[in-house]
Amino acid sequence: MAEVIFRREFDVQGGDFLNAGRVSTGIKEILGQIGIRAATIRRVAIAAYEAEMNLVMYAHRGKFTLEVTPEIIRLVVSDQGPGIENIELAMQEGYSTATEEMREMGFGAGMGLPNIQKNSDRFTIESEVGIGTRLGIEVNI
Ligand SMILES: Nc1ncnc2c1ncn2[C@@H]1O[C@H](COP(=O)(O)OP(=O)(O)OP(=O)(O)O)[C@@H](O)[C@H]1O
Ligand SMILES: [Mg+2]
Repeated sequence: MAEVIFRREFDVQGGDFLNAGRVSTGIKEILGQIGIRAATIRRVAIAAYEAEMNLVMYAHRGKFTLEVTPEIIRLVVSDQGPGIENIELAMQEGYSTATEEMREMGFGAGMGLPNIQKNSDRFTIESEVGIGTRLGIEVNI
């Protein structure tokens, strides 16, 4: 595996809608400072934002690990939370368990996970009910 030239971790608190989006904005800024091209940053930023919102909406707490190698940008998003019972269903466009309150805030289209997958070159999702969820997102530079 290629050498990691940049690595940083970010904590995210479940339910914290006030700060939601800060980690993905921070990641976007860092990638800009490193000199990653705009089209690549855009894909990472979309995936990071959707993952961050899911963590805030559905999990208790979690963390993002950002790694940059000469070839890829990797995000590992792991949370402690309820987990996902049926991953195949959760990955379907339009499937959502968002509450009425979340829908009023504009979430709950059921497009987050499909969008993460679309914007990733490699995507993995693992989840254990009652334990949490882990996403592996890689975008080629
Ligand atoms: N980290 C997570 N922990 C527990 N459940 C999750 C997590 N992420 C997603 N889910 C479940 O998967 C469903 C689909 O997620 P997805 O991001 O595709 O849609 P959404 O969050 O409901 O709506 P949108 O992302 O369009 O606002 C969620 O409604 C939720 O039930
Ligand atoms: Mg979502």
